[in-house]
Amino acid sequence: MSLITGRYGLSYTAASPETVAAFDETVTSYLGFGRDIGDRLKGVFGQDPDMVMAHIAKGYFFKLFGSAVMAERAKKALEKAESLVTETEITARETSHLDALRAWCAEDLDGATAAWERALIEHPKDVLALRLAHFNHFYDGEGRLMRDSVARVLPEWEVGDRDLGFVLGMYAFGLEEAGDYAAAERVGRRAVEINPADAWSVHAVAHVMEMQGRHGEGIRWVAELEESWATTNNFRFHLYWHRALYHLERHEFDQVFELYDRQIASDIESDMYLDVCNAASLLWRLELYGVDVGGRWTDLAEVSLKHVEDHELIFVAMHYLMVLLKSGEREAARKLLAHLRAYANSDMSQGRVTAACGLATATAMEALANGNAAGAVAALYPVRSEMYRMGGSHAQRDIWEEMLVDAAVRTDPSLARALLAERTAAKPLNAWGWRKYADALEATGASGKSEAARARAEDLLAAV
Ligand SMILES: [Fe+2]
Repeated sequence: MSLITGRYGLSYTAASPETVAAFDETVTSYLGFGRDIGDRLKGVFGQDPDMVMAHIAKGYFFKLFGSAVMAERAKKALEKAESLVTETEITARETSHLDALRAWCAEDLDGATAAWERALIEHPKDVLALRLAHFNHFYDGEGRLMRDSVARVLPEWEVGDRDLGFVLGMYAFGLEEAGDYAAAERVGRRAVEINPADAWSVHAVAHVMEMQGRHGEGIRWVAELEESWATTNNFRFHLYWHRALYHLERHEFDQVFELYDRQIASDIESDMYLDVCNAASLLWRLELYGVDVGGRWTDLAEVSLKHVEDHELIFVAMHYLMVLLKSGEREAARKLLAHLRAYANSDMSQGRVTAACGLATATAMEALANGNAAGAVAALYPVRSEMYRMGGSHAQRDIWEEMLVDAAVRTDPSLARALLAERTAAKPLNAWGWRKYADALEATGASGKSEAARARAEDLLAAV
């Protein structure tokens, strides 16, 4: 083993420059949601079975699956890396990565993120650390940290750097989640110019369009670039989900179902959590729009039943729970709830999130499944300002805001009226919100204002 310099001048403890070059390409494949990440990593091990950083990356990739089963495999990769460093001296940067994996495997997400951020101070072009910090800030609900984490390294990146587009894409998404839509769109479009196949950059701009209610533009944006981003791994289904969301807000339900059946739910059996998140939240939204989704919930049950004891990401557990509740798997739903109740008492990063808002959200969804809208409002409303801690994007978390206002319209119209005043101000181009606002206004005796809100909704739909 020797110290070998790879891309961006980063040093690795490895067998040969070829091994390090293969590792660099593995990282680039990960950044681009490549379908060959696993094969590339195997290629690295084929050249050098003892490359510590490759074992650490293997652990990372398992953790990224966000499931209990894969977390066990990550621990095996960590054990291997730990055993290798008893005989091999590694660099301070590699040690930071080992610390990060150790923390992540111990369910200390905050500790893992701190280790990556520490590595980035000295090595601002450690793009693997950057992307992983980005991931964990995302599931911590920390939009501003997503933005700032990239901002602090960005001046070190130069035109021509292999992964510059990916870095700009991360910055664009951080800007978007932090609410700076103009800058997000500008940076995101530049990233897409550099690399049109970068689904994360396309996605950042798609989010801007979603947040600004630019549904028609959003449909065109993802459709025009589809040939490039559709080459990625299952992340592509999330871009189809975004397209379906635009159609949903235009009340174009046939297009939503076509995207759902042909793309979004087409690979559920591969057991990727994001596929279930996409599918479950879209079905629940469709029902909130008053649309019958047929037997589609049942199709999601088998994969969700595998995760009744998962708490890797509480945001994800909430989506498994949606499926179990809606597909009639009540016993499994109860089991998942009991597991979350116990986990909320743990002092782990996601345990604290569960206590802060996860349990309340789960309780609210169970109440809704039992037809108890008042119970859902009682559970969800008090934690409304804590919901961001569950992570995911603003657009994804909006499902719980929609559940809340829908339940409030039926059981607490005054609260619904206030919440929908807020919602229509934030999302003035969302027809569903105006319709719900009209219902709440009517229920509270403001019939003139109700008629105006309803007219606003119909105008928006007529303009589609
Ligand atoms: Fe998204």
